[in-house]
Amino acid sequence: MAHNVVSIENLVKRYGDKVAVDHFSLNVEEGEILGLLGPNGSGKTTTINCLLSLLKYDKGVIKIFDKEMRPEAYDIKAEIGVVMQNVAVIETLNVYENVDFFCGLYIKDRAVRRQYVEEALEFTGLAEYKKYKPKKLSGGLLRRLNIACGIAHKPKLIIFDEPTVAVDPQSRNAILEGIRQMNRNGATIIYTSHYMEEVEELCTRIVIMDRGKNVASGTSQELKASLINRETIRVAIPDRSEKLIADIKEINHVYKVKEDGEELIIKCDGGDHNLVHILSYLSDNNIPFGRVSTELPTLNDVFLEITGKELRD
Ligand SMILES: Nc1ncnc2c1ncn2[C@@H]1O[C@H](COP(=O)(O)OP(=O)(O)OP(=O)(O)O)[C@@H](O)[C@H]1O
Ligand SMILES: [Mg+2]
Repeated sequence: MAHNVVSIENLVKRYGDKVAVDHFSLNVEEGEILGLLGPNGSGKTTTINCLLSLLKYDKGVIKIFDKEMRPEAYDIKAEIGVVMQNVAVIETLNVYENVDFFCGLYIKDRAVRRQYVEEALEFTGLAEYKKYKPKKLSGGLLRRLNIACGIAHKPKLIIFDEPTVAVDPQSRNAILEGIRQMNRNGATIIYTSHYMEEVEELCTRIVIMDRGKNVASGTSQELKASLINRETIRVAIPDRSEKLIADIKEINHVYKVKEDGEELIIKCDGGDHNLVHILSYLSDNNIPFGRVSTELPTLNDVFLEITGKELRD
């Protein structure tokens, strides 16, 4: 049985009157890539900072590797890698020296450390930039340096707080692939983001956060399976009658039909061949139609159904 790497129970964190984290609970098992998905201001970073004992909290119990996490728990901290949302590197040190500095907080043996630093630079594709000062790096390379500093000491638990914000697609893909590789090498990952596509692509399990609360969790398939809507079909039918709409509503799995300009928006609650059934009906009845499209539900739909608002800004 996999055991818990992280356990957060009933965490509450207030900033003055503002409740940033509201009775939030989360378990992360060994080997998972757990995605913490939530809109801006939902409490992701605050949760991470409480988890790491960087912030005092009002209520809750936090355990890492089955031990209570405390500000002075250096033995636990040595096994954690953190890649912060805001890039935190030292401007006066070059790339190599930065990684060496952060790795040196945990790895005292110089020979081992040299090897670890070289591996981290290789891994993040920074080997050829060793001598560069952070100011000389592009946004994407700076993010990668931030990652190299966080992971060089080979931690068992790695926390990424929105590592791909303002990163070009190429660096972004390199970062995501790097995270998968670290996971294959045995690290448990917590990944926060407000990009649902990214979380969906990378994470083995997703927790959706809103206003400091854990509002849903599961694999992306499980989350979508909880929706009534399974497919949305749009068909342009400029010339349509009341009877047509009533007939389409009678088709198996259709639960809602809306009119949107020239288009009919048809919502289905399951079924594998909804489009075929609808198009057969139209051609059997000689009803002319134009552009057709079909959409499967997204995590945004899950979020929308739970909270009544969009995940995107
Ligand atoms: N130091 C602080 N003092 C007061 N309020 C804060 C502080 N830090 C965060 N907050 C508030 O707490 C809430 C949660 O913020 P937090 O940064 O944890 O969200 P987030 O999910 O990480 O957002 P983002 O996606 O923008 O990074 C927000 O309403 C934010 O304005
Ligand atoms: Mg944040």
